[in-house]
Amino acid sequence: MDNAMKPMEFIKHIEHAFSFTKAHAIKMIKDFHKEMGFGLKGKKSSLKMLPSFVKKPKGNERGTFLAIDLGGTNMRVLAVRLHGEGKFETIGVKRFSLNKEIISETEKVFFDFIVDCVINFLKEYHLDSIYEMGFTFSFPVVQTSVSSGTLVTWTKGFSVKDVEGKDVVFLLDNALKRKGVKSLKIIALVNDTVGTLATKCYEDPACDMGVILGTGTNASYPEKTEHITKYKGRWNSDEMIINIEWGGFDKINRNLYDETLDRNSENPGMQRMEKAISGMYLGEIARLVVLNGLKNNLFHTKTIEDIFSSPYAFTAEHLSYIALDDYNKLSWLKDIHDLDKKIIKMIAHIITTRSARIASSAIAAVITWMDNTLTSPHTVAIDGSLFEKYPGYKETMESTMVELFGEASKNIRLTLTHDGSGIGAAIIAAIVSSSPQ
Ligand code: GLC
Repeated sequence: MDNAMKPMEFIKHIEHAFSFTKAHAIKMIKDFHKEMGFGLKGKKSSLKMLPSFVKKPKGNERGTFLAIDLGGTNMRVLAVRLHGEGKFETIGVKRFSLNKEIISETEKVFFDFIVDCVINFLKEYHLDSIYEMGFTFSFPVVQTSVSSGTLVTWTKGFSVKDVEGKDVVFLLDNALKRKGVKSLKIIALVNDTVGTLATKCYEDPACDMGVILGTGTNASYPEKTEHITKYKGRWNSDEMIINIEWGGFDKINRNLYDETLDRNSENPGMQRMEKAISGMYLGEIARLVVLNGLKNNLFHTKTIEDIFSSPYAFTAEHLSYIALDDYNKLSWLKDIHDLDKKIIKMIAHIITTRSARIASSAIAAVITWMDNTLTSPHTVAIDGSLFEKYPGYKETMESTMVELFGEASKNIRLTLTHDGSGIGAAIIAAIVSSSPQ
């Protein structure tokens, strides 16, 4: 092929296409602040800035609560006992996988399935009293109270029919009734970022951000009520946690690969930042780059084309094994030429570095929105497999903070917070239970 690029030339092209420099970050932070402001005022914005009707926990909330955590490829049911003084214990947890079929079913079939899982959980743990429950539903939901909210649009590949535009608590409640479950009362509807923030905050009052870096990505933070001018109703506190829905942020540069991925996705034009950052999409971006490499005769192994032929078959988890040179779980890649492994590893590195730098800049934007001079300590609670498991991801985020803020970046602490989406629902249920809204 005459116009084919040589391997290093190709890698340079990829590095350029995926570069996210300090100047990009500074511009992004400015745009982010603008969009946050618009979103809070109810003006047109790619950041929805959704009120959660929840304030930060104090750490003294007590009691036993149930939680449903729904928002990715697995759903979980949990029973959590809160002891106060920042301590809690999970007294039961069960994971159920949600396959492709169930997440594109009709509303009734889907919610009946969820309730079947709950019944299964209650039986296994012999939980036969009456419980209040928090429902973590990690999609963009417009809430009108802490215990009700309308799904704006599905994200992350979900497409259950007849749910968009409806109150998901009402739908779950109907399914509980259909199945004769009388012992559960849903008192809180929670986004996973809000749950994660609440969980960390329960033990660390310096926590003022919850972030998910997993299948999807998003964040929440406590906002001064007086700034949420789009909300005209009553609220009994001077702050309220806002679910930013930052996956939708659209002021970021996109390259050819981002555009192709977006065009072929289930929600073209939407969730632009999520598509550049989150675990659901990183493998697919890498696959598109590999396919372009193939066009440039870059690889030595004949079977590469077959290996990378199916959309979304190559995942962020695969990328993380490649980053570690761990081919035990990648038998289909094990025998490819060493040079090809090297190239794919470089591609993985370039794509995930951009992801971590954008994620870090988005956190920087939210922290400086709250504290422009970075004078107070900020604990950022982060959950999700990218942050937890991807080799070097956290370090890249931290070095980006240093690049942006120098010494002052010491005031930003990025901490892993496990299971916040489930435990947080229980904590928020406890807040609601002790001070009915
Ligand atoms: C998607 C959802 C958002 C959620 C995030 C992380 O972006 O829209 O609500 O918080 O994924 O799970």
